[in-house]
Amino acid sequence: QQGPAFDVNAMTLTRWVLAQQRSAPDATGDLTQLLNSIQTAVKAIQSAVRKAGIAKLHGISGDVNVQGEQVKKLDILSNDLFVNMLKSSFTTCLLVSEENTSVIEVETERRGKYIVCFDPLDGSSNIDCLVSVGSIFAIYKKVTGGNPVEADALRPGRELVAAGYALYGSATMLVLAIGKGNGVNGFLYDPSIGEFILTDPNLRIPERGNIFSVNEGYFAEWESGLQKYVQDKKAPKTGKAYGARYVGSMVADVHRTIKYGGIFLYPATKSSPNGKLRLLYECNPMAYIITEAGGLATNGKIPTLDIQPTSIHQRAPCFLGSRRDVEELLTYLK
Ligand code: AHM
Ligand code: MG
Repeated sequence: QQGPAFDVNAMTLTRWVLAQQRSAPDATGDLTQLLNSIQTAVKAIQSAVRKAGIAKLHGISGDVNVQGEQVKKLDILSNDLFVNMLKSSFTTCLLVSEENTSVIEVETERRGKYIVCFDPLDGSSNIDCLVSVGSIFAIYKKVTGGNPVEADALRPGRELVAAGYALYGSATMLVLAIGKGNGVNGFLYDPSIGEFILTDPNLRIPERGNIFSVNEGYFAEWESGLQKYVQDKKAPKTGKAYGARYVGSMVADVHRTIKYGGIFLYPATKSSPNGKLRLLYECNPMAYIITEAGGLATNGKIPTLDIQPTSIHQRAPCFLGSRRDVEELLTYLK
């Protein structure tokens, strides 16, 4: 007997978000609307990343765009999608994007109560060689009255309402954490119906892993405790060495860390004393998700989620992953 060709009762992302809204007595539906607009942006970005519609962009026979325009770079296209979808959702008032030097104030008539910080296409060095990239977002609710100002976005990650990322890997997955204690859920994109389907409910990071993930090219610039830690992972006095994996796309490296366990590190170096990753739209959303999945995230001194931001593009050292691996790392750091 043949099974049905389609799951006629699939838990799509839209359905799942709606169900969350229905179970929250005071929900207005705004977050649902906001997440829908992000979902649309992510669908369009994944299509562009996968070079769907390449013939349209380049013309069937050459590499000149049919309209004779320059083909828009993927990171710019992704940013335009995020900004436009979020503004037109009528649920946001302030946007912080990696691509924009200043905050983006939403026009008065389209304003809502949420603040979104995002990196529309992270892993820019991997775009041109077709290695996995991703989008990252973090959502706050505005707590002050009056017009939205930059200070409204400068809040510790603990206050996030939700955070998520999309990984454009061998398949596209959207991972979402809404609210404290509600866990993390993963939705795999099914191109045959254009929907994200809940395939990884309640993602939990293993307590300990056997993979470390760091750009070792900067080894000479690390503090000695960190050098010792990585040395010990590679040549332990007892037990087996850890495996090394580093994509160089934070979303891919973090997603692997959640699925397989282990530790991801982007430390401070002599030349970048705060590391490279941005607090508001890289470290914080990932720390929120990792924490919700049962792991730990720290800047080496305090939990990432407790850092008080002082500027929108500020950087922070980032260590995250399996609880016991991060705890062990902390014993090495000064
Ligand atoms: P980007 O925002 O310019 O793409 O940089 C962020 C990326 C992260 O995805 C990744 O973890 C890191 O840069 C890799 O940096 P490096 O090449 O220094 O190892
Ligand atoms: Mg980035």
